[in-house]
Amino acid sequence: MIPSRPDFNNLPSRNEGIAQILKGSDVDLTKLPLFLHHEHDGNAYIQDTSVVSRDPDTGLINWGIYRLMFRSKDETNVDMRNDSHKARIHARKYQARGIDMPVAVVIGGPALDKIASMFTVQNTDDWDVLGGFYGAPAKVVKCETSDLTVPANAEIVIEGRIMTTEGWVFDEGPYGEFTGTYGGGLPCNCRLKVDCITYRKGGIYQHATIGGLHPGRTDMAVWNSTIEADIFSALKSAGIQVLDVYIPGNGSTNVAYARIKTVGGGDAKQALGIMLTCSRQWLPKIAYVFDEDVDIFDPDRVMWAFAWRFDPGRDTLILPGQNVLPLEPMCNANKPPVNLSKIGFDCTIPLVGGFDVLSFAACKVTPPLGGAPSGIAGMSEDDIATSMESFIKEAPRSWLEILTRFSGQPYPLVYRAFGRLRHRLGRMADDRPTYPYTLSDSCFVEGKK
Ligand SMILES: Cc1cc2nc3c(=O)[nH]c(=O)nc-3n(C[C@H](O)[C@H](O)[C@H](O)COP(=O)(O)O)c2cc1C
Repeated sequence: MIPSRPDFNNLPSRNEGIAQILKGSDVDLTKLPLFLHHEHDGNAYIQDTSVVSRDPDTGLINWGIYRLMFRSKDETNVDMRNDSHKARIHARKYQARGIDMPVAVVIGGPALDKIASMFTVQNTDDWDVLGGFYGAPAKVVKCETSDLTVPANAEIVIEGRIMTTEGWVFDEGPYGEFTGTYGGGLPCNCRLKVDCITYRKGGIYQHATIGGLHPGRTDMAVWNSTIEADIFSALKSAGIQVLDVYIPGNGSTNVAYARIKTVGGGDAKQALGIMLTCSRQWLPKIAYVFDEDVDIFDPDRVMWAFAWRFDPGRDTLILPGQNVLPLEPMCNANKPPVNLSKIGFDCTIPLVGGFDVLSFAACKVTPPLGGAPSGIAGMSEDDIATSMESFIKEAPRSWLEILTRFSGQPYPLVYRAFGRLRHRLGRMADDRPTYPYTLSDSCFVEGKK
């Protein structure tokens, strides 16, 4: 639920609580900590940078993280190459009007703000989305040099204009991407002209890290939740019984898992098609669907299900010519169209084709059954055999159920009593000439078949 919006006509000025405002010739980005992130980067980057802009058509605010590369003391580049990203959509609108785009760049801030900034809710102001995350109207204040607004608790804000009138003509990068590569090579991007920098008293310069040899352990993780949400809601609205969606960190955002309850033979393939195409982020390129008994947050279970429930010939879905991120290493970002094929792996147990469900079941190791419950009366082998017989007559029983029932009795007696009955017992599945078996088919029943 999105709470009511703040009173935008009655906002406090950001001036309150600001220790320093740098304008004109005082603007100097080298007052910020600047450093190289990856060995082949084109220059120092300021990365934990939520860029705020206003849609010139609707007046709605957008914010999202877009990296800034240092150019000179009052200018940076801004990476805005993805056609589906809002800042670029706004910038294109300003460009079409022949004016530069006013922006405010919020450095740092609470992790929840970062996650909120990743979400795009159509026809909704991003401060409403932020309020939705906090369950209260977002507290925002006016900027110094434009009518943009920023969170009231912002530590450092860079105000300026993205020079859309000049176009996407300034070389930017290379930059060690969230992919763990220099994907995108040497792109051309817009320039940001800085008009003002404001610092809060004791303001904290926060920095984000992406790329490296373990990109899944970086700040890029805040992005994954928006892709997970896109996929979850798309699956749900298509009628798929989705239980979990997960973007595992080590797939650097290009791999997604879904856990579903299949009710028809085509569910998993349909889910794969949706997962690969539904997100406005154009991710992921690779998707897996698993049954409800697979813990998709456990890499061991995921790899196990992929190894034993997946038939490459039958369970692979390939979608050619799909939109992907421009920084895919296999695409040339500067020469659109950027598209690649996408692939899905159906790792669910087939519901059709006479498959034996029991063969696919995960065989959990049983913990040792506990010792004698206190106060249990010792039984003779005869008593156990009689009691076991009526227990099995009552209903088909698995071996685990039988052992549990007689837990606490000396186990040699339990095994011997069972041995006396075994020749008169059958398995539930014995009278079934064909597949599929079910998990209960392994239970013992009275009467040998
Ligand atoms: C740490 C971090 C850095 C990012 N850097 C960029 C970037 O430089 N350029 C870009 O287009 N997207 C970047 N993103 C992704 C966008 O911020 C993300 O797609 C966001 O949803 C865009 O929102 P918007 O379309 O509402 O503006 C980054 C995300 C994170 C978490």
